[in-house]
Amino acid sequence: MLNFAVIGVGRMGKRHAFNLKAGLLFGVRLAAVCDVDDKALDWCKKHLKGVKTFRSYKDLANEKLDGVIIATPHYQHVEIAKFMIEAGINTLIEKPAAPNVTLIKEIESAHAKRKDVLAGVSYNQRSNRMYKRAKALLSSGKLGEIQRANYIITDWFRSQAYYDQGGWRATYGGEGGGCLMNQCIHQLDVLQWLIGMPKSVVATTRTVDRNISVENDVSAILVYDKFDCSFTASTHEIKGVNRLEIACDKGRLVIGSRRMRVYRHKSEVEVNAKTKFGYGSSPSVSYFVGYGFFRYIADLVKGQQLRSLRAFRDAINKKGSMLAELEEGERAMQIINGIYLSSYLGESVSLPVDEQKYGEYLEKMIEKENKN
Ligand SMILES: NC(=O)c1ccc[n+]([C@@H]2O[C@H](COP(=O)([O-])OP(=O)(O)OC[C@H]3O[C@@H](n4cnc5c(N)ncnc54)[C@H](O)[C@@H]3O)[C@@H](O)[C@H]2O)c1
Repeated sequence: MLNFAVIGVGRMGKRHAFNLKAGLLFGVRLAAVCDVDDKALDWCKKHLKGVKTFRSYKDLANEKLDGVIIATPHYQHVEIAKFMIEAGINTLIEKPAAPNVTLIKEIESAHAKRKDVLAGVSYNQRSNRMYKRAKALLSSGKLGEIQRANYIITDWFRSQAYYDQGGWRATYGGEGGGCLMNQCIHQLDVLQWLIGMPKSVVATTRTVDRNISVENDVSAILVYDKFDCSFTASTHEIKGVNRLEIACDKGRLVIGSRRMRVYRHKSEVEVNAKTKFGYGSSPSVSYFVGYGFFRYIADLVKGQQLRSLRAFRDAINKKGSMLAELEEGERAMQIINGIYLSSYLGESVSLPVDEQKYGEYLEKMIEKENKN
């Protein structure tokens, strides 16, 4: 039996703690929880009977733990993750590992010295069956080279009331950014997992119809060697979509929130080379891959995030791998920081992002936020 602890028992941490306490992760016991807030600890004492409670994460080092899950606000991830990794405890960090590339690298440096310890990021959307199938298809080479990608994400509606809850959310100083940092980081991780890293980005971000200092609307072009990906995200639209389309030489993936349509057709390069006419097409076959009804219901009840914990457990038991290792978790943040910097400077930004310029930009944003 593995012993886990959850650090930060707010919204996400409660779900993790509750799932573990309910025995939903076979072979794992919730041994301890930690939070700096009295109300959170009172909740734990009431709902997680028999589980040790701690106010300081440092005291967890004296417990015999096989793994910790960090679910605190973003900036706090850094010192806690470094401490746990240095203490030799396997660490799963809720996304994002930290709110910018520079801080993620701080955790990576600690991990570089303790490679015997697992360090991962909870990018639970990688467990989505459709994305896994898309990854397998793209990696197999059956679809040929990628020619274009489009991602539109407008289904994370957040009202003013959400932001009015206050705290660390939707601030540069508390969260590190807006809709990209909190919500769409999941999809940016999936995007880079599927099609790789862009070499540069050009973007605009804005705040639409909400009283917040960070963005809730983004338009970006992610530039690759041989194709571009247009990326749109907003959290102010009602009834939006989550739609990724990847057009390849020999096929096309159209991935929605509940199903993916896979098209297979002749090579566009060959059709273009052979056709004598100005117009041409190729018959295609297509089929659907669904999210899976029972998976969907299970995820609604237990949260897709349980799959991250499952992968973490399996990796500790050497029976599988984590959904995303810490070092991979940096990639989505490279894109996010690039987008923010591009929007601010009004110019294209190369990746990896210039961390010094990003730091100066962020400092200005935090200063401006504090004045208001
Ligand atoms: N994977 C997902 O789908 C998903 C969904 C929601 C949130 N999250 C992530 O989970 C994390 C937490 O988000 P949330 O919505 O639960 O936040 P939250 O504000 O509801 O909870 C954070 C908790 O951490 C506690 N905390 C703060 N500093 C601490 C410290 N030093 N030591 C111990 N506890 C501390 C707070 O008191 C609070 O109870 C964030 O990284 C967020 O992005 C992930």
